[in-house]
Amino acid sequence: MKDLSLKDTITRSELVDMEGVPLTKPMGITWDQVQKFKARPDDVYIATYAKAGTTWTQEIVDMIQQNGDTEKCRRETTYKRHPFLEWFVAEPPSERYSGVELANAMPSPRTIKIHLPVQLVPPSIWEQNCKIIYVARNAKDNMVSYYHFHRMNKAMPEPGTWEEFVEKFMSGQVLWGSWYDHVKGWWKAKDKHRILYLFYEDMKENPKREIQKIAKFLEKDLSQEVLNKIVHNTSFEVMKENPMTNYTKDFQGIMDHSISPFMRKGVVADWKNHFTVAQNEKFDEDYKRKMSDTSLVFRMEL
Ligand code: A3P
Repeated sequence: MKDLSLKDTITRSELVDMEGVPLTKPMGITWDQVQKFKARPDDVYIATYAKAGTTWTQEIVDMIQQNGDTEKCRRETTYKRHPFLEWFVAEPPSERYSGVELANAMPSPRTIKIHLPVQLVPPSIWEQNCKIIYVARNAKDNMVSYYHFHRMNKAMPEPGTWEEFVEKFMSGQVLWGSWYDHVKGWWKAKDKHRILYLFYEDMKENPKREIQKIAKFLEKDLSQEVLNKIVHNTSFEVMKENPMTNYTKDFQGIMDHSISPFMRKGVVADWKNHFTVAQNEKFDEDYKRKMSDTSLVFRMEL
């Protein structure tokens, strides 16, 4: 019998239903604390469906806040710089992690990451009228990225085959639930709250323009020199080589970058390398139905 390596012995998490949204079992344990979380008026939230470009946006926001100082941005890994509010891990093999505890202990001004669908956002965040940056990515690329992330990250549920994963994604039976409800819910919420709604595809098309939008939203004036520095340092190529942003320092033994690196491709339309023609037709038809009640439009290619 072959020796079992750490990654073979890890049991992947099961999902539990939390108000209609599948979350991990440990997250269910601390759900009350998440809902009672006390926001502060000067908090900034980065909200996304998983794999929509969270880490990229976190780096952009941090670089803006640090006025382009790369040394300051390298003070810690992305995972440790910004608490991941609803994330909770109680037991090994992952390190213990409580997003709520980390956020509570953090001095203001805080920048906090969430993947929650809009209806599950802790009420205090709305009450304090906090700034929220939401990033959305087209469904097909988002799903491809999520599939590879499940393969490489043993903290995620078993993805099954690509065909099986497509079915799960379309029916919303994945961690953080339905992509369709997520992007539509936040799209609606932006008319009532302080939400900057961005698209991954726009960020790829013209990062400078989108970084400027974020800076304006955060009420930060950036010189051209600093802006250019941020564009460069938040490019896929630079972030892939940066140990503070590429997730090689966190989740060691949990994330296996040899299966699929966290910084995988970072492009628009990689879905074309994954979907069969039949799959694409089925997906499009279902997509049309699910997205018929929104004005939200995505670009599937540039
Ligand atoms: P791919 O798997 O398609 O490559 P998140 O941070 O929300 O988990 O999203 C991860 C996705 O964003 C991955 O997509 C990753 O490669 C991509 N990404 C990370 N940094 C990026 C950057 N600077 N530019 C473009 N894409 C980036």
